[in-house]
Amino acid sequence: MTSASAPGKVILFGEHAVVSGAKALGAAIDLRAKVTIRDTPGSTMIEACDLCLRGFSLDLNTLQVVSAEAVHATRYVSAVLNEFDARNLRVMIESDIPLASGLGSSAAIVVAATAALNRHLDLGLSQKDIADRAHRIEKAVQEGLGSPTDTALATHGGYLQVSSQVLPLDLPGMNMVVGYTNQSHDTRSEVAKVQSLKARYPDLVDPIFQAIGAVSARAVPLIRDQKLRELGELMNVNHGLLEAIGVGTRELAELVYAARGAGGAFGAKLTGAGGGGCMIALPTPHGFAALITALRQARGTAFAVKTGCEGVKVERDQA
Ligand code: MEV
Repeated sequence: MTSASAPGKVILFGEHAVVSGAKALGAAIDLRAKVTIRDTPGSTMIEACDLCLRGFSLDLNTLQVVSAEAVHATRYVSAVLNEFDARNLRVMIESDIPLASGLGSSAAIVVAATAALNRHLDLGLSQKDIADRAHRIEKAVQEGLGSPTDTALATHGGYLQVSSQVLPLDLPGMNMVVGYTNQSHDTRSEVAKVQSLKARYPDLVDPIFQAIGAVSARAVPLIRDQKLRELGELMNVNHGLLEAIGVGTRELAELVYAARGAGGAFGAKLTGAGGGGCMIALPTPHGFAALITALRQARGTAFAVKTGCEGVKVERDQA
């Protein structure tokens, strides 16, 4: 039996502008997806449980309880099994990363499955091979959509600066809170919407993208020096710029304002593509409980997360 787990991620700064070449900053978080593989001669089966923090399981043999989330997760794992022509295995997926929320759940599942299979079948893939193969697999399942950031963060962990290249940054971990609107979102349509706005109003959107890139670059030394108050200010600026290009929603705004108001956060912004999904907030040193309460009162699902955590780990390897 072999298990591997991989982290989800948040985009801290720079989403959307990165599509047009500006810098973005992403961080692995300590919500993880885990994939366990056992030999089962004569049958190949994928099971999913505890996905999206809701308990259920899917048994492909009996086709018992099926949910959209489980089907979604099993598509990624079947793609990994097909990529390596792997059969006669029972694969169990567990995850505490909400699916389709912009927190990198599919990348984490693909990376964990690839790493577990790598060890189980002795495929000899390096970390870089795992990140590359996982990126290709995720992109194929998503019909061409998928930036290398999510699979790179799920594999290597830590922080990444993304522009034309993906650059690991050595920065300290931070305690943050993620607020999920409980609304799934569609990255492809949000990116298309923003790119169409840019094509129609380049004189307006180009400077906004430049400002977003500048915010991302300024954030790096602030994280290094743990200047959290200033970092929060930049989160607020970045959120305003994302609102300006039309990816905010009422639900995201409610969580952002609840975090800054009753939650007392240093700053708050949407994270990822927008149009639903999640926001992030930076709590004051003793403000965690108030922030989580404020987000829950604003009808969000709140998670305390630590940024910059460890990448993929093979957790158990038993005969
Ligand atoms: C989505 O998590 C981030 C976007 O910038 C898209 C991308 O970088 O591929 C909106």
